[in-house]
Amino acid sequence: MNTTNEMVNPWNTDKPVSYSGMWIGTELCQASIRKKISGSEDDWLTYVIKNYMGPALGKSEAIKPRKDYSVLILGANEGWIERTLCSHGFVGKIIASDIADKALERARQKIEELGYTNVKYVVANLNKDVFEGPFDFIFAEGVLHHIEKIEECLERLSDSLSENGILIAPEFVGPVRFQLPEEQVRWINASLNVLPKALRPFSGDPEGHLPGTPQDNARVYYVPPTEQSIIDIDPSEALSGPKLRELFPQIFDILEQKGFGGTLLSYMTGHFDFERANKDLIAQDWLEVLVKIEDTLIKTGILQDEFTFYIMGKKKKS
Ligand SMILES: C[S@@+](CC[C@H](N)C(=O)[O-])C[C@H]1O[C@@H](n2cnc3c(N)ncnc32)[C@H](O)[C@@H]1O
Repeated sequence: MNTTNEMVNPWNTDKPVSYSGMWIGTELCQASIRKKISGSEDDWLTYVIKNYMGPALGKSEAIKPRKDYSVLILGANEGWIERTLCSHGFVGKIIASDIADKALERARQKIEELGYTNVKYVVANLNKDVFEGPFDFIFAEGVLHHIEKIEECLERLSDSLSENGILIAPEFVGPVRFQLPEEQVRWINASLNVLPKALRPFSGDPEGHLPGTPQDNARVYYVPPTEQSIIDIDPSEALSGPKLRELFPQIFDILEQKGFGGTLLSYMTGHFDFERANKDLIAQDWLEVLVKIEDTLIKTGILQDEFTFYIMGKKKKS
């Protein structure tokens, strides 16, 4: 059994991770997420750049010189966040960090090729390592739910924020190791059963334009993974989602909190043909139906968002 994050990390292989075949690999889900977070076509990072980083980018009045602003990026992986910040004119110090040394090395090479000299790469484990701040901006995209000692980690991050600094965290806040409650599994399967079989794993079925029969649906359906199967793939996967929900408001002042779904869709990899939804209009239409079902379940309070975009500040002492 693999027990430590150092032993298995699927985010640290010889090639960048591909999101194709997953909900977030589809243009339609990406557009829906962008809308939920920014209310527009902007992705979350563009939204943060426009709404929070004006002074640091020389676009609005600042309390210090541009080069004195500082950024810490956690879970930097292949490095898209620091490259985007630099391309928008961020000239201050950036520490880009991850436990994934191979991915981080590729990110380092890319930033070097682009000629930016203000980014330093640091391989670090958020369960124990400390970053010397203060930082004006800490970015943590999809990394904090991997951290076992999450309370200590968040306390350290709070300590390393500057007085008016912000922590930006689009995060998975769903169940530990994807051990979904029975009602959520029922909704996942009810939604899959609505689809034409051609978009589900019924390859070559002559009735591809029809939904599955009760017999089909009793044979092909979503079953949540066992905890052990998740541990075998990545021992740190989905470790602290519920704790993030609880600890964020205790440790930080929440400035923004916007759910962006994932409650059904993130579990449908292999059960719905997401790749096809990028290519043909029929699959796209059916994906829209799935998005609508998920949105309705969340809006009516039956299920909760499993992914949430947070912007947080240091807790103000009262
Ligand atoms: C879901 S990926 C985040 C995606 C990333 N933000 C990107 O730009 O694609 C999770 C990241 O958390 C990192 N990670 C997992 N456990 C960690 C730990 N203990 N300390 C630091 N990083 C960790 C992984 O190496 C991976 O890069």
